[in-house]
Amino acid sequence: MSLNVEEIKKDFPIFGKTMRNNSPLVYLDSGATSQKPRQVLQAEEDYYFKHNGAAHRGAHLLAEEASELYEGARQTVAEFIGAPAEEVIFTKSATESLNLLSYAFSNTKDFIKPGQEILVTEMEHHANLIPWQQLAKRTGAVLKWIEVDKDGFLDLAKIDKLINTNTRIVSITHQSNVLGTINDPSSFVEKIKAVGGILILDGCQSVPHLQIDVIKLGIDALVFSGHKMLGPTGIGVLWAKAELLEHLEPFLFGGSMIENVTMESASWAVAPRKFEAGVPNMAGAVGLAAAVNFLKKLGQQNIESHMDSLCEYALDQLREIPDLTLYGPKTKQRRGAVFSFSLNDLHPHDVGQLLDQYGIAVRTGHHCAWPLMKKFGISGTTRASFYIYNSKSDIDALVEGIVKTQRYFKGR
Ligand code: ALA
Repeated sequence: MSLNVEEIKKDFPIFGKTMRNNSPLVYLDSGATSQKPRQVLQAEEDYYFKHNGAAHRGAHLLAEEASELYEGARQTVAEFIGAPAEEVIFTKSATESLNLLSYAFSNTKDFIKPGQEILVTEMEHHANLIPWQQLAKRTGAVLKWIEVDKDGFLDLAKIDKLINTNTRIVSITHQSNVLGTINDPSSFVEKIKAVGGILILDGCQSVPHLQIDVIKLGIDALVFSGHKMLGPTGIGVLWAKAELLEHLEPFLFGGSMIENVTMESASWAVAPRKFEAGVPNMAGAVGLAAAVNFLKKLGQQNIESHMDSLCEYALDQLREIPDLTLYGPKTKQRRGAVFSFSLNDLHPHDVGQLLDQYGIAVRTGHHCAWPLMKKFGISGTTRASFYIYNSKSDIDALVEGIVKTQRYFKGR
């Protein structure tokens, strides 16, 4: 079943906004952050209006309701990715989830030893690169990476060397935030298991669009953000296998994450609480659960086919524009609906500003992926990223905006 975009948009108050020059909003920046439906906003408001208390603390009704809502949200998110609730940890963002892992690994004795290897890819955004650079610095481990080929796919020619008996951690993006490339973790899983390594998947750009089942994927951990999948900012998720969570030392220390405390020492509660120090973001979790319910109602299968058809249409249309260089896969196979492009020698910021004059919101710059920019010999791109509230007419508007931008700069 295809998505009824006009109906969906009615749930997003922001689409009532008039943009520059009286233009309607064409929002093509969901890769950075998605818009929020009123169901998510209402869930948060409802939480604060009627149920606010500190979860897992207090003997009163509000604290009890807050705890129930918070744990209910965990259950909803867990079911969405096919995981048991006790393996789902709420963080403030995917970035924090990755930092949590990185610090938990170095806090855990002998988890990663000097000379052991951490493997990433050249298409990671900084959130899935810098925490691993830092882990390597803290532990004496060695950071390696899989290169990207000219079509925007991972170059797996040297994979048998890259995954070897020294490999301890592999952390790769499921879908590139710049190229749209969808990586298939199944090509890594067996190799990594065979050498005793662990596989982390960065689902920031895939969880909002693709059906995810962590067990079927065969991975050890998954991270994603709430705000890219209709949820609020300030809430992220780390899923990891129970045995890994059990083995790891915490990242943040304080209230809620303890079992027993004396003046000299403390012991830890079991996961997920071991990794959730302090009063948690209850309203954020409730908002994220509302976002998940919104997506479930639309149907993940329907979302996937909607994104697929937008992807195909956008590729067809963008291909026709002279002087446009599109980065990443040129067909919709193994590709999501995010399109990074250059227009000859026009600066991406100029392109973005011109598109903004027509109400078209895109992201410009390096997209927190400097090494990838360097690989393609550019300093930045213009990026249009799509979601459930976009239709083919938004792609037409983008194409028209690009052509007008080209005309504007030629005429100067
Ligand atoms: N990783 C986010 C993006 O692609 C910030 O825009």
